[in-house]
Amino acid sequence: MTRMTLTRLTEMPAQGEPIVMVTAYDYPGARAAERAGVDMVLVGDSGAQTVLGYDSTVGVTVDEMLVLARAVRRGTETAFMVCDVPFGSTEVSDEQAVETAIRFVTSAGADAVKIEGGGEARLSRLRAVVAAGIPVVGHIGLTPQTAVALGGMRAQGRSVASAERLVDEALAVQDAGACCIVIEAVPAEITEVLRSILDVPLIGIGAGPADGQVLVLHDLLGVTEGATAKFVKQYGAVGDATVSAIAEYASEVRSAAFPSDEHRYAARTDALEAARN
Ligand code: KIV
Ligand code: NA
Repeated sequence: MTRMTLTRLTEMPAQGEPIVMVTAYDYPGARAAERAGVDMVLVGDSGAQTVLGYDSTVGVTVDEMLVLARAVRRGTETAFMVCDVPFGSTEVSDEQAVETAIRFVTSAGADAVKIEGGGEARLSRLRAVVAAGIPVVGHIGLTPQTAVALGGMRAQGRSVASAERLVDEALAVQDAGACCIVIEAVPAEITEVLRSILDVPLIGIGAGPADGQVLVLHDLLGVTEGATAKFVKQYGAVGDATVSAIAEYASEVRSAAFPSDEHRYAARTDALEAARN
């Protein structure tokens, strides 16, 4: 497989090929996504929760995200790698946004960054980063970094005002230069409307059919503890499998069943003699 390009990604919808995107936060996750043949990996700030244990995405820093992003880069060959710019790293000014985006490109090898929201300041950041030559993926609908201001982690586009706002923001984010747009937690019918008016690919999460889909790796693997969002489909039970593997190891250590002969090194007799004397 050849490396995914932006040109190819933007051509996929017209060719009826859905874009497959999944998050990754480390080397094994990136390797698995790569081996499974996804088109795009997202180093999501959802990593704040899935791998760093924060209770929301807002606390994660650029430095923390860069550690995750570099590990993902090392495991990614052909997939197009997008990095979330975390909350606080673009809010101050366009200059700050450009500096942050540049760090993700130069020190983590990001192919693009993802910027949440479609308000005036957000659009200005988006234009500035695009003008610096860095592709930007937009993110509208439920934007977790500003979920408090949206009234919590809830679906968007369900009232007249919210639906109108989504249409305005989608068009504005596209006009600001986004190469594609993630749309989160929106009724499928609204996504359909947006799809018909947008030229750039629309990648859904909890938004019904779109030009592509994205899911949080740990949600789809079944690693996440407790309840997940309504839109998550769990394709594995990796969390349970991990717990039972560790529990079995613990039990074998306690019963001295592990390590057995097959996991031991044999000593050379002369070395053994020497050790005994
Ligand atoms: O951080 C993340 O995982 C995301 C996806 C849910 C789109 O932004
Ligand atoms: Na995110």
